[in-house]
Amino acid sequence: MTPWNPALMRSWFVVARSRQIGNKPFAVTLLDRPLVIARDRQSGLMALDDCCPHRHVPLSLGRMTDEGLQCAYHGWTFGSDGRCVSVPGLMPSACSPFAQVGTVGVMEHDGLVWVKLDDRQSTQDGTLPAFLQRLPPSGLRFVWQSTWRARAVDALENFLDAQHTHFVHAGLVRSGQRRNVVEATVTTSQGSLQVDYRGQPTQSGWLYRLFESPREVERAHFCSRAAGTAQLEYRYQDGSALYFTLHFSPIDKTHVRVHGTLHVENRWAPSWALRLIAWLFLRRVLVQDQAIVEAQRENKERFGRNEGLSTELDLVKPALDEIWVSSGSPCSELSIVRMLV
Ligand code: FES
Ligand SMILES: [Fe+2]
Repeated sequence: MTPWNPALMRSWFVVARSRQIGNKPFAVTLLDRPLVIARDRQSGLMALDDCCPHRHVPLSLGRMTDEGLQCAYHGWTFGSDGRCVSVPGLMPSACSPFAQVGTVGVMEHDGLVWVKLDDRQSTQDGTLPAFLQRLPPSGLRFVWQSTWRARAVDALENFLDAQHTHFVHAGLVRSGQRRNVVEATVTTSQGSLQVDYRGQPTQSGWLYRLFESPREVERAHFCSRAAGTAQLEYRYQDGSALYFTLHFSPIDKTHVRVHGTLHVENRWAPSWALRLIAWLFLRRVLVQDQAIVEAQRENKERFGRNEGLSTELDLVKPALDEIWVSSGSPCSELSIVRMLV
């Protein structure tokens, strides 16, 4: 199986919700690397390889003490820098072994825990792309998580692609045979991608008819600094806004952990109504997407295929390939594509 593109090691991925990391260590796997996330009583979050250097028991079976993360087998304890700080039972005169567990970058943002496998660079919040930094903290917010048997890059392309909605989400997102001319402006720069759609202030499906109003901005975002994350931004003529963000974090080549958030700004509807109705509709859309990208993954394996044929409608593929497979053709700075949507 082909190895992961090394550029992915320098990227932030969502591995859990903040509230999932409490007193107990939490096991996750990102890009085939098993990790344990824990909340250190002194220094906040810690993220280590999930393997004790003594007899290789998973550290995620352990517990938190005042000193750090204590292994469940013989009690060796590790600080947030991965160093062993205690070996129970050793006489004070005995020399304790130098033991170090591998660490990775970890931080919290928007109620989610983010991990970067290459720990050499700063773990500051500022390294996340701007479209994630400006999410409204006070707005209504919903979070959802699942695991798909799919490839992360396929799931990302699916989320950012408009052309499948007529077929996979017929009726929900778009209905009817009639298509309109839409202009998509694709801007790429330093690993980030933005697509601005013009020409469809309204949409024909139930999602739009029930929950939206005429749009002023319809924009898609992606950035290699958070290579599993993509966002659809909708701004409305009445001053409200929706940000639908999906975070795809590969467990291995065939499983991807999915976290989804919906941020709602300046919307009249009470949160219970949005939760009950809008969020339920969106989840239905996600189930449809899950089914198609899982079938895609299975069939790629059956036929031993990876790349496919593309047209100019496949707007985001070059930018995704640049970070995920490193084989994409270089992205142009700005391109405008007219399409029927
Ligand atoms: S295996 Fe962890 S302390 Fe022995
Ligand atoms: Fe979709």
